[in-house]
Amino acid sequence: MHKILKAASLSPSYTNTQPWEVAVVSGKKKEGLSDLIYDLASNKAEGHPDLPSPQGWAPEHVARSGEHGARRLAALGVQRDDESGREKMALMNYRFYGAPCAIFLFMEGSLNEWSIFDMGLFTQNLILAAHSLGLESCLQASVPKYSLEIKQFLGIPEHKKLIICISLGYADADAKLNTYRAIKQDPEEFTKWFR
Ligand SMILES: Cc1cc2nc3c(=O)[nH]c(=O)nc-3n(C[C@H](O)[C@H](O)[C@H](O)COP(=O)(O)O)c2cc1C
Repeated sequence: MHKILKAASLSPSYTNTQPWEVAVVSGKKKEGLSDLIYDLASNKAEGHPDLPSPQGWAPEHVARSGEHGARRLAALGVQRDDESGREKMALMNYRFYGAPCAIFLFMEGSLNEWSIFDMGLFTQNLILAAHSLGLESCLQASVPKYSLEIKQFLGIPEHKKLIICISLGYADADAKLNTYRAIKQDPEEFTKWFR
């Protein structure tokens, strides 16, 4: 973990402000937190995420997101109209997909989009460093839905913004969900060349 965080600490940030604040949760503490948020999610408790849900998706974003959902369901053998199967899949988030470690990234509540940009750079470097050491990750925007409860559980001041949760561990090559591979655009589809 130290090596991974050291690599992430080298991330660029707006005028080197380094807004990231990290909580690494494992062992009994992770179990307790997982039980708490799993119960909330199972009971469909209302969440209060610090970041609003994405807005203004164009048709191509809706299409990619829909395809992603459908392919993940297919990987697990869950039918689209199988409500309980879909819920079971969604709830896997709150067990951190069985990972032994959950990393929570916070930043000061007064910061704006540029700091979220920095948080993204930090996140990417963190997961790439982990990958280089044989560890895989899952970024989770679903978990910060219960930001308030997570902050209370960890004793983090409520004015901090919880940006993302990262589940981290060794990949289970036999897990059905790990057979899913996201479809990526060819660079030619999103690039215009000016010469
Ligand atoms: C900001 C962000 C939030 C995400 N939230 C979740 C999540 O809550 N649960 C989950 O299973 N995957 C989540 N993901 C993973 C994406 O679904 C995944 O990155 C995407 O489908 C592309 O797949 P790839 O990472 O394998 O390339 C998230 C990814 C990002 C960047």
